[in-house]
Amino acid sequence: MKGIVLAGGTGTRLHPITQAISKQLLPVFDKPMVYYPISVLMLAGIRDILIISTPADLPNFRKLLGNGSQFGLKLSYAEQPNPNGLAEAFVIGEEFIGDDNVALVLGDNIFYGQGFSSRLQEEVAKLDGCTLFGYPVTDPERYGVGEMDAGGRLLSIEEKPAAPRSNRAITGLYLYENSVVDIARSLSPSERGELEITDVNRDYLQQGRAKLVDLGRGFAWLDTGTHDSLLEAGQFVQVLEHRTGVRIACLEEVALRMDYIDADQCFELGRALTKSGYGEYVMSVARAAGASG
Ligand code: G1P
Repeated sequence: MKGIVLAGGTGTRLHPITQAISKQLLPVFDKPMVYYPISVLMLAGIRDILIISTPADLPNFRKLLGNGSQFGLKLSYAEQPNPNGLAEAFVIGEEFIGDDNVALVLGDNIFYGQGFSSRLQEEVAKLDGCTLFGYPVTDPERYGVGEMDAGGRLLSIEEKPAAPRSNRAITGLYLYENSVVDIARSLSPSERGELEITDVNRDYLQQGRAKLVDLGRGFAWLDTGTHDSLLEAGQFVQVLEHRTGVRIACLEEVALRMDYIDADQCFELGRALTKSGYGEYVMSVARAAGASG
C-alpha cells in the first residue's frame, strides 16, 4: 500500500501565523506537525509516501524531509496549486498510486493510542473498498459524520451536517482500494467548490464496501485547526512526553522500531540534532537498541 499526506490549504483559520508558513510545518510541542501523520503511515507499514502541498510550501517540506531515505522511506512530492478538496489528492497522485491501494492522511491530524500500529496493519491487510476511522467528539458538525446501526454497520456519512445523526467524527485517515482514483476522477465539485472526500466515501458506502472502525475511548485524535486546539495539541504531547519519557511521532524512533533503519543509523540521526532534547532522545533510543555510538 502507498501513502499520501495531504498538507495543502491556506490555513486561514490560523492567520496570521500561517501567512508565511504552512500550517503543517508549525510545531506541535517538539516537532513539526507533519511528523505526526507521517508516523501514522509508517506505523501502518507504509514506506512509499507522497507529500502534497502548495507550490509555495512544498520546498520547505523537501528541506525538512528530503527523499526520506534517512528514515528508510521513499518520499515524493506533488503540488496542489488550489484548495480544490481532499479528494483531489487521488487525481494529483494518480501516477504515484499506480496499481496500488492507498492510504490518505491529512497533514494536520494527530493520532495517539496503544496498539495503533497493529490495528492499522490489520486493517490494511483486510481492506475491502474503504476503511474509515471514527472518533467520538462533542462538535460533530465540524467534521464528516458516520452513523452506525447497533451491529456496527455503517448507515450514512455526511459532511459537516447541521443536525448530526451521531457524535462519531470521521477522522482524517482513510484506506482505499485502487478504485479510489477512478471514483475521485468522476466527482464534481461540491457547493463549496471542492472534491469532497465524503463523496468518495459515500460511493463505497453505496457499493456496500465502506467500513468505519471505531477508535473510541482510550484513544486520542486531536485537531489543530484553531489557535486553541493547536496549543492544546502541543500541551497534550508535552504532558505525555514529560510524564512517560517517551516521545510521540518521533520519526527516527518509529523507523528504528519498524526496522526501516538500524540502531547505528538512528544514532547518527540523533547526533545531527544533538543540541536539542529531541536529538538526545533519538541517541538514547538508538543506544538502548544497541548502537555503538
Ligand atoms: C476534512 C473532511 C472531514 C473530516 C476532517 C478530519 O474536513 O472534509 O470529513 O472529518 O477533515 O480532520 P476539513 O478539515 O477540510 O474541514
